[in-house]
Amino acid sequence: MREEGCDPKVVLEELARIVEEDVKRFTFRAVGSMCSKPLPIAKIAYLIGMESNVGDAGVWEGVARLEKEAIQDLGSLLSNPRAVGAIVSGGTEANILALWAARNYTKKSEVIVPTSCHISLYKAANLLGLKVIEAPLKSDYTVDVDFVRRNITNETAAIVGVAGTTALGAVDPIEELSEVALEKGIYLHVDAAFGGMVLPFLKELGYEVPEFDFKLDGVCSITVDPHKMGLAPIPAGGIFFRNEELVEPITFETPYLAGGGVRSFTITGTRPGGPIAAVWTLLRVLGKRGYREVVKRCMKLTEMLVRRVEEEEELELLMRPVMNIVGVRAKRLSVKEFSLRMRKLGWLLSEFPTHLRVILMPHHTERLVGELLRDLRRAALRSHVELRATLKS
Ligand SMILES: Cc1ncc(COP(=O)(O)O)c(C=O)c1O
Repeated sequence: MREEGCDPKVVLEELARIVEEDVKRFTFRAVGSMCSKPLPIAKIAYLIGMESNVGDAGVWEGVARLEKEAIQDLGSLLSNPRAVGAIVSGGTEANILALWAARNYTKKSEVIVPTSCHISLYKAANLLGLKVIEAPLKSDYTVDVDFVRRNITNETAAIVGVAGTTALGAVDPIEELSEVALEKGIYLHVDAAFGGMVLPFLKELGYEVPEFDFKLDGVCSITVDPHKMGLAPIPAGGIFFRNEELVEPITFETPYLAGGGVRSFTITGTRPGGPIAAVWTLLRVLGKRGYREVVKRCMKLTEMLVRRVEEEEELELLMRPVMNIVGVRAKRLSVKEFSLRMRKLGWLLSEFPTHLRVILMPHHTERLVGELLRDLRRAALRSHVELRATLKS
C-alpha cells in the first residue's frame, strides 16, 4: 500500500478506463452471459440505497420495508404474494438457502437433482452434508420424473426441478414433480434463477409455457434472480419460500444489533441495501408491461437467431429454445474447436460438453445477432482453408 494517496481525479480516470473495457467486452462480445446490463435507473437507485445495511433492519427500517415490498411483488408474479423471501447475493446463495431449509425442516440427508442443475446445488449439498442423487435427463433435456419417483427414500430431504436450465433454458416438468412431492410428502425446490423472470411474461405474451411456480401445491421454494433477467445490478438474487414455517428452521436471531434483535435466514449478516433499492425501483418503474416488453424483445432476437441457424448447412440447434437461451453446435467440428474459433473471432460464448450457449439479453441488438451469426457460420466451416477464404471475403 502506498504511503501517500494519489490525485483522486487521476485514480478515478484509471479506474474508469479499466472498467470500461470490461463493460464493452460484456456488452458487445459476451453473448453467453446470464447477467443483466443494469438499466440506468437501476444504477441510480443502487447508489441511493448503497449506504444501507438491511441486515440491521431496525436501523435501516425503510430499506427493510422496500425488501418486503419487492418480495411481495415478485411473490405475486410467482402466484404467491405471501411468499417469504429475501434479496440475496445470487442464485447460488438462494439455492443454498433452499436446501438448508429443506434439510433442517425434514432432518433428512439426501437430495435428488437433475443432471442439468447448476453447480450451486452441488455446492449447497456439499456444504450441508447432503448426498446427491443425480436424475438423468430425457431426450428433450428435461428431468426423468420416473427416476426421481423411484429414487425417493426415507432419507430424501428434497427433490429439485429447474425452470430454465443453465445450459439450454429447458424447463423440467415441475407439475409432475409437484405431484410426486405431494404424493410422497417431499420438499420440492424449483431453481428458476433465470427462467423466473422470463416464464411469467412468456405466458402473458401467449407462449405455451409449463407451470413452474407456487400455483403448484407441491412447490416449497423458488430461486429467481433479478440480476439475471430482471435488469438489476449484481448482487441481486432472490429466494422465495411458500410460507414462514419452511423458513423457521434456518432463522437465527442476532440480538445485539443497534436497531434491536433481527431474525433473519440469509447466510450473510450485513446485507447491501443497494440491490434492494434497485430491484424495488425496477419493479415500480417497469411494471409487468415493461418486463413483458423486455422478454418480447429478447424472444424476437432469439427467434431471429434460431431461424437463421436452422437455415445454415454447417450449424445445428440442440433443441428449440423455450426461452432466450440457444444451444448451437457446428455439425463438422468438435465443441472445443468451435469454441476456440469463436474466441479467435472475438466472441465470448459459454461452452458446454455438447454445444455453445448463446443468451439473447435485453441489451443485445439485431445488428449484434447478425454479426454473431456471420461469425458462427464462419467458425463452423470444417477446414482452416475454408475459414480463411470467408474471412478474406
Ligand atoms: C439455473 C441457475 N441457478 C443458479 C445459478 C447461480 O446463480 P449465481 O451465479 O447468481 O449465483 C445459475 C447461474 O448461472 C443458474 O443458471
